Amino acid sequence: MNNDPVTTTHTLDAGAAVTTTTLVHPATAGREWWRSAVIYQVYPRSFADADGDGLGDLAGVTSRLGHLTRLGVDAVWLSPFYTSPQHDAGYDVADYRQVDPRFGTLTDADALLEKAHRLGLKVIVDLVPNHTSNEHAWFQAALAAAPGSPERERYVFREGRGEHGELAPTNWISVFGGPAWSRVTEADGSPGQWYLHLFDVTQPDLNWENEEVRLELESILRFWLDRGVDGFRVDVAHGLVKDQSFPDWGHRTDMVSGHDDEGGEDELGDVRTGGHADPGPSPYWDQPGVHEIYRRWRRVLESYDGDRCLVAEAWADGPEKIAAYTRPDEMHQAFNFDFLSTPWDAELLRESITGGLGAADAVGAPCTWVLSNHDVVRAASRLGLAKTGKGPNGIGADDPQPDAEQGLRRARAAALLMLALPGSAYLYQGEELGLPEHTTLPDELREDPAYVRTGRAEKGRDGCRVPLPWEADAPGFGFSPNGATWLPQPADWASYAVDTQKGVPGSTLETYRAALRLRRDYRLGTGSLAWVDGLDDCAQESVLAFTNREVLVVANLGATPVELSLGVELVHASGPLGQGTTGGLLVPTDTTVWVRPVQPERSEPAR
Ligand code: BGC
Repeated sequence: MNNDPVTTTHTLDAGAAVTTTTLVHPATAGREWWRSAVIYQVYPRSFADADGDGLGDLAGVTSRLGHLTRLGVDAVWLSPFYTSPQHDAGYDVADYRQVDPRFGTLTDADALLEKAHRLGLKVIVDLVPNHTSNEHAWFQAALAAAPGSPERERYVFREGRGEHGELAPTNWISVFGGPAWSRVTEADGSPGQWYLHLFDVTQPDLNWENEEVRLELESILRFWLDRGVDGFRVDVAHGLVKDQSFPDWGHRTDMVSGHDDEGGEDELGDVRTGGHADPGPSPYWDQPGVHEIYRRWRRVLESYDGDRCLVAEAWADGPEKIAAYTRPDEMHQAFNFDFLSTPWDAELLRESITGGLGAADAVGAPCTWVLSNHDVVRAASRLGLAKTGKGPNGIGADDPQPDAEQGLRRARAAALLMLALPGSAYLYQGEELGLPEHTTLPDELREDPAYVRTGRAEKGRDGCRVPLPWEADAPGFGFSPNGATWLPQPADWASYAVDTQKGVPGSTLETYRAALRLRRDYRLGTGSLAWVDGLDDCAQESVLAFTNREVLVVANLGATPVELSLGVELVHASGPLGQGTTGGLLVPTDTTVWVRPVQPERSEPAR
């Protein structure tokens, strides 16, 4: 397939001769729903609580699905709701085929699926194949069994180094901080082998060299496919296979971006990977062997009817490596975290968008776009920090606080930028309300294992996981019937509540709703992007301008307003606009507009 960008110079309207560079070739796009879907991430702990224990549940999600259909999304991705001791908020699964009683029952899961499908929403569930909980029956059996036993072979157990095996087998560092190995006590009470956990000590890594592990995970896929799910978001998809020579590699990997902005040593003495500087090949991230696993999974999915899909959460270096997970016989989508991690800077964003689209296009996959999720500081706060980009791992009361007004303005502008891009977009619950991070959570309430494992140096992810505000005047803002919430909500969240914003023109909720409707009407998800250069006097370094189908998108990231002198019809805007001195549309700082160029009426030729 020829994926060379096509550069043409043409006239966008009577006044402006512009250069456009078309990046995505619509011919490579298929018709499957996931190619252009807007997928809403539900974090079940914090979406809605039906039983009043303060923790969200599946019945709560089902009861609030109407919000999602009104919003206009195509699909829901549910973060884990399986049986779990919740040491990592459900990403520590003890039984992959059961719903944790805190979240409900399998009957509740079936009811959710049934109602979502009836409302026309697809449902994607989270699958955690890199590790289980230490409470999983397999790990308990492994602890009770002897070194070298088949039970231990399901995990990564190794003898320690040092005279008495007292040193960890390698110097690998957990993503949450601290060593990635823990030593067990054998049945006879003696200090024993070490097991690998790239995340928390309660999350032992599975051994993907073992065919039994592969078959078990495929059987779990089938279990949920049989129940009717439309796909899986695959957690830590790049981590399953480890270099079997187990070389040392003492770098701490940053969540989501896969690298650390600063590099150097952190408070724990853990060596950070350091920006894009190459810390040398990792022996456990993005090993070539992972791809064979997903080829097998693809075949499992294709044995089912409907367009079921796999979405990779993979932190790999550069868009091509990410796109490799979405080759035609592997997964269908991969999260493009580069976009999320890019600073609020027109040139850098353009580079990121171009790179992401080009790499996805080269393998015939849709590009994905995401601004927030349960692992990062919410966009409305991240973009209000002095230094934008992926942001810190959590914000505490003593840290510099985001500029809330600037953050929200930019988050809305970023959303309109994202939703105009071809491909599939992900929204994180509450983003449609403009919810900020809870930046002043009392430390004693924090649950993220990263908080404890970093010696409380990183605040962690709890601040983006606070229960949603539904009703301004209800206790707990209507999250639960009795006002209980597992984390406290900031007092000023009444202004963000769904019922405060519903039907209010210009509110963040209504801005998102209109964006999703217009995205659908103009078929932007399946369109092509063409960068527009030379538009009016817009300084390219502070303005992003592109067309997708007949819509011209202009995002002003610069310090001064930009006037669009060409004749345009306004389609949508992320915030209030003004009128320029020559009568054109004035796009203020940190604002995105969708417009349609209008051809000036031709005067009749003189006879
Ligand atoms: C999930 C995190 C989780 C980690 C370990 C991630 O990438 O999104 O929330 O802590 O995997 O399962």
